[in-house]
Amino acid sequence: MAVSPIVVIGNEKGGTGKSTITANLAVQAKRDNLQVLVIDADTQQSLMDFRSLRAEKDLPQFQAISITKNTIHKDAKTFIGLDLILIDAGGRDGTAFRSAIMAADWLFIPVLPSQYDIWAALNTIKILEEARTFKTIHARFIVNQVISNTRISQETLQALQEFKIPVLDTKLYSRVSFKQSVGVGEGVTEYEPKGKAAGEIDSLWTEIKKLIELTK
Ligand SMILES: Nc1ncnc2c1ncn2[C@@H]1O[C@H](COP(=O)(O)OP(=O)(O)OP(=O)(O)O)[C@@H](O)[C@H]1O
Ligand SMILES: [Mg+2]
Repeated sequence: MAVSPIVVIGNEKGGTGKSTITANLAVQAKRDNLQVLVIDADTQQSLMDFRSLRAEKDLPQFQAISITKNTIHKDAKTFIGLDLILIDAGGRDGTAFRSAIMAADWLFIPVLPSQYDIWAALNTIKILEEARTFKTIHARFIVNQVISNTRISQETLQALQEFKIPVLDTKLYSRVSFKQSVGVGEGVTEYEPKGKAAGEIDSLWTEIKKLIELTK
């Protein structure tokens, strides 16, 4: 059986939207009838909590396990024959975070559009570069929590370009439905299907699927 494509949503910096994005992508994958496994690599267990809320409400469920030790890159390879593995990787444990990056075929780095957050991405990039001496890892930034009626400043996009990692076209805006939906165990496309957040997640999922050549 074929190895499963591994997508890591990771940033060492806290609060950039890793869990929100992972949860929403897992829901989208499920809606596309994909065999998706989420690996929650954060001791905070946000994805496992999200999943148990879904279980209480009998919502369509995705598979998930929690691995918070530095074996993620070895373990992930053993889950063969799946359409997609999604890993939510935070920076609470340095070795587990490195292990998650080492597992990645694709690394998506959520960043908030502020200079502080861009500086804070430096360490994640350094870990990515180290991992890239061992294997090919494709990477993209996802700009999250853009404030409505402000333009993402040219400086922010320029600052991101210096890392030589492309920025995804889809930007996620700061919207209350991203917070509220997760709190009730739903993706935004389930919570408010016609809302703007749902449109953004649809667009993000479509862009990612095309990029990683998920053809099913
Ligand atoms: N686009 C968005 N609009 C509004 N709120 C958002 C958005 N993305 C994330 N949030 C909120 O920002 C906070 C941080 O998001 P999240 O928990 O997904 O980040 P994280 O990177 O997983 O954080 P941690 O490092 O603590 O695991 C949460 O309260 C979440 O609801
Ligand atoms: Mg999180």
